[in-house]
Amino acid sequence: MFEPALYSANDKQVREETSEYIEEFSDEIGQMSGRCLDIGSGPGHIVVDLLLPKLNPKSTVICSDISRPMLDYAKEKYGADERISFLELDIESPTLVEYLGEKFDHVTSFYCLQFCQDMRQVFKNIFDLLQPGGTVLFTSVCNHPCEDAYKILAAVPRYKRYMMDVDRFVGVFQHAKRPRETLKSLLRDVGFEVCHCSNRHTSYIYDTPDAHTGFMASIDPFMSRMPDELQREYLIDLGIEARRHTFIVNKDGNDDCSILSRRHTFVVYLKKPLVH
Ligand SMILES: C[S@@+](CC[C@H](N)C(=O)[O-])C[C@H]1O[C@@H](n2cnc3c(N)ncnc32)[C@H](O)[C@@H]1O
Repeated sequence: MFEPALYSANDKQVREETSEYIEEFSDEIGQMSGRCLDIGSGPGHIVVDLLLPKLNPKSTVICSDISRPMLDYAKEKYGADERISFLELDIESPTLVEYLGEKFDHVTSFYCLQFCQDMRQVFKNIFDLLQPGGTVLFTSVCNHPCEDAYKILAAVPRYKRYMMDVDRFVGVFQHAKRPRETLKSLLRDVGFEVCHCSNRHTSYIYDTPDAHTGFMASIDPFMSRMPDELQREYLIDLGIEARRHTFIVNKDGNDDCSILSRRHTFVVYLKKPLVH
């Protein structure tokens, strides 16, 4: 779904936010040693540049992702690092723990879990992958107004056939009434001790409409299914539609304006009890 180089070129917001969360939880991360699994590592630079320096020096990180191109990209860049290894996995798969059960001491995941639909299966998998006493730190988008743009474009006749599965790409918490409470209760139900669970309102300014559209394109799941010419048209429409859900600042009557993009992000820290 993601093209690694395109995603890496447009992930400034993710990097800046993740850097802040990793700083905030640096004491907890510093306690993590042994085998740490990072889920949805993508190009790998969050793990290598931000996470690894804060982890206990005796720890190793297994970078995992559902996307083979992402893993290949990360492997080429960071494969020489002895503390890093790579694993292809789908964290939503019902058969995951058959071969990976209780293999990891800690789990991290940054901006990946919002791409999953069956959240009970996801958290059950994470629980079962962990050793008793293991911890989890994850961030995940709760609500991104721009995701509503997908639903609108999926109803446009020329895009419809490429977006039949649109619901799969709109986060399950996108329009939930009490998202934090729902998530917390699910995590407890699965067996976790919830040490921290917040739903943060974050905002980010893209200097130009193109920078905003570039970010939208870098996480878009549909465009690569379309013929080249339609892709160009879709990208313009995606930019226009996504901007309906954002603030436009410094507008001077032409395209020279900044875009204030807002979203809600879950920040969660969990423990798997020693005795369950
Ligand atoms: C927005 S990127 C975040 C990458 C990285 N964590 C970062 O912060 O830069 C999300 C990543 O999650 C991966 N992903 C999506 N669904 C997944 C799943 N079910 N299992 C594992 N990885 C998944 C995608 O392939 C992508 O690389």
